[in-house]
Amino acid sequence: MPPPLADALAARAAALRAELDLHAHRYYVLDEPGIPDSDYDRLFNELQALEAAHPGLLAPDSPTQRVGGKPLGQFAAVRHRLPMLSIRTETNTEASGAENFDNRVRKELGLKESDPPVEFVAELKFDGLAMSLRYERGILVQAATRGDGAVGEDVTQNIRTIRQIPLRLPADAPAVLEVRGEVYMRRAEFEALNERQRAKIAQGAKGEKTFVNPRNAAAGGVRQLDPAIAADRRLSFFAYGVGEVTPPEGGGPAFETHLQLLLTLKSWGFPVAAQTRLARGATELIAFHEAIGQQRDQLAFDIDGVVYKVNALPLQRQMGFVSREPRWAVAHKYPAQEQLTTVVGIDIQVGRTGKLTPVAKLAPVFVGGVTVTNATLHNEDEARRKDVRLGDTVIVRRAGDVIPEVVSVLLERRVQAAAQFTMPTQCPVCGSDAVREEGEADHRCSGGLFCAAQRKEAILHYAHKRAVEVDGLGDKLVEQLVDADVVRTLPDLYRLGFAALARLDRMADKSAGKLLAALEKSKQTTLARFVFGLGIRHVGEATAKALAGHFGKLDSIMDAGHGQLLDVADVGPVVAASIRTFFDQPHNREVVEQLRACGVTWQEGEPAVATWRPLSGLTLVVTGTLPSLSRDEAKDRIEAAGGKAAGSVSKKTDYLVAGAEAGSKLEKAQALGVTVIDEAAFLALTEPPPA
Ligand code: IVH
Repeated sequence: MPPPLADALAARAAALRAELDLHAHRYYVLDEPGIPDSDYDRLFNELQALEAAHPGLLAPDSPTQRVGGKPLGQFAAVRHRLPMLSIRTETNTEASGAENFDNRVRKELGLKESDPPVEFVAELKFDGLAMSLRYERGILVQAATRGDGAVGEDVTQNIRTIRQIPLRLPADAPAVLEVRGEVYMRRAEFEALNERQRAKIAQGAKGEKTFVNPRNAAAGGVRQLDPAIAADRRLSFFAYGVGEVTPPEGGGPAFETHLQLLLTLKSWGFPVAAQTRLARGATELIAFHEAIGQQRDQLAFDIDGVVYKVNALPLQRQMGFVSREPRWAVAHKYPAQEQLTTVVGIDIQVGRTGKLTPVAKLAPVFVGGVTVTNATLHNEDEARRKDVRLGDTVIVRRAGDVIPEVVSVLLERRVQAAAQFTMPTQCPVCGSDAVREEGEADHRCSGGLFCAAQRKEAILHYAHKRAVEVDGLGDKLVEQLVDADVVRTLPDLYRLGFAALARLDRMADKSAGKLLAALEKSKQTTLARFVFGLGIRHVGEATAKALAGHFGKLDSIMDAGHGQLLDVADVGPVVAASIRTFFDQPHNREVVEQLRACGVTWQEGEPAVATWRPLSGLTLVVTGTLPSLSRDEAKDRIEAAGGKAAGSVSKKTDYLVAGAEAGSKLEKAQALGVTVIDEAAFLALTEPPPA
């Protein structure tokens, strides 16, 4: 007889849960996905639908219940059955830190020098927050923070959102099991979170902020009253020990060593760090400390040290505790990645491509293993958001190979209010205008040809084979010429003499001769190559060709107004503004004049026949049904006449072309006072001239 329907549904739900748990474990813990995401989603949706239709099937350990809880008013207090201990810290970050610990352990255990080395487990010291996970009969019933070690907070709802934490354990798990470990955030998740936060802030969201480091973001996530926010942090977990353990009736696994315990936790589905090692005696502890120190920057998460634990559990029990710290464990730190220091200035650095970066000058501080005196503030918005001012006490962070940065200002320590930071309007290196284009975060120096910071880049670009082409002038040579101070700006290239060149290191007479010949040859060029060679921002090869073809003469390009530049095919407002700014810098014009004076020349031409572009600079919107033209034909006509076809009406719309049954766009145009025309008027406007 087939099973009753209810049983069949319950069996299906159980099967789905088992399968989903298996795949979640492979995906989140083992990093080996077994099925495509879409298959997982399909199974998940089926289970969700089943539970929704039959609420009796719902269970707290169902994968659908990870985020489901309602926001809490506050967290309940949890008394830990076994206290959550802390660890003695060995502050001596040198190798001798490990020796000190080994010596202490040997003494406590009464070992003689001739006795064999003590066996330890060496682990990572994760930089997150401690968590106790309580499982009863295999089901996660409670997750609690450490609190003061005796009483923590019940954060079960939030901890359920961590996919790496099993909600249910295999049948061989003890009746009561408390797993102790660390909740943390991966660096990539941290960067992504701050990226999302910055986007929210840029869009004007109130009360949003970026996070100082992964640990703070993780701790803040765990302490969210709304589990949906906690879920958004995408936290991770590593197990490193146990609290209360009550074996099931008839016994269960009895652990002899700490390593065995960790491996068993792993077999029950908990993530255990892959770096965990058995280490014998101080020598192997030191080797571990050093090896992990080397890898520290490349790890996917922050650690602040390593932890050594005596491996044999009977020995651990024998050694016991002092205050709340076990005698059998120690944390051996690495140099901190965050330190306090003061801001002694804010400089602007100009990069090779003209980007201006505000940099905080700091009182020297040892952080992340090096002495730091500079920290980037990235750009104007970042500098203002952090509100770093002269004299401020700040937290500097140097984690991984990332360039040091100012994390935050300790406002309570601000002594006297120095002025708020503002980006200079001139390049500090050459005095040319510094401009920030619409929609860009960075300011740039517009003195590309003249600016000392951009010399090498400007010369290389000019000499490129698709630009003016100076054969043999590559980055090594440019480096040499600029560093030896024989070439400062482009015209200096044409003033180089044989003697000056031959004096350079590794420059044979023959190569000096070759370079001079190449320079001579480069003097005969084309207007397009020359314009491209100037390295004007946004003016690539194609735009340079279009400019040369359109204007024919260099002076016409240099003097063209914004509107005239817009008439060139491919030149939009951003490019036009960039060309204008470039030639508005007297120094850039001076360099161009000197190049001409040095004999750089090209064939000038006549301007292209004034092209027919009656809609140049105008934006049109088409709506409704036109009597003869389709929507696409109308669009093509707009573009052929040099105009822009837009999809929606705004203040920037110049004409609305309206046909039959024009609806909301027509109303909007009328409300905004946009000129409305019919098809006949449109055809007249866009009628090409007779050939
Ligand atoms: S064992 C028996 N192991 O460091 C001592 N703790 O004060 C119990 N921590 O807040 C802790 N990584 O959260 C242990 N591999 C590790 C650890 C670790 C990080 C944290 C722990 C606690 C602090 C120790």
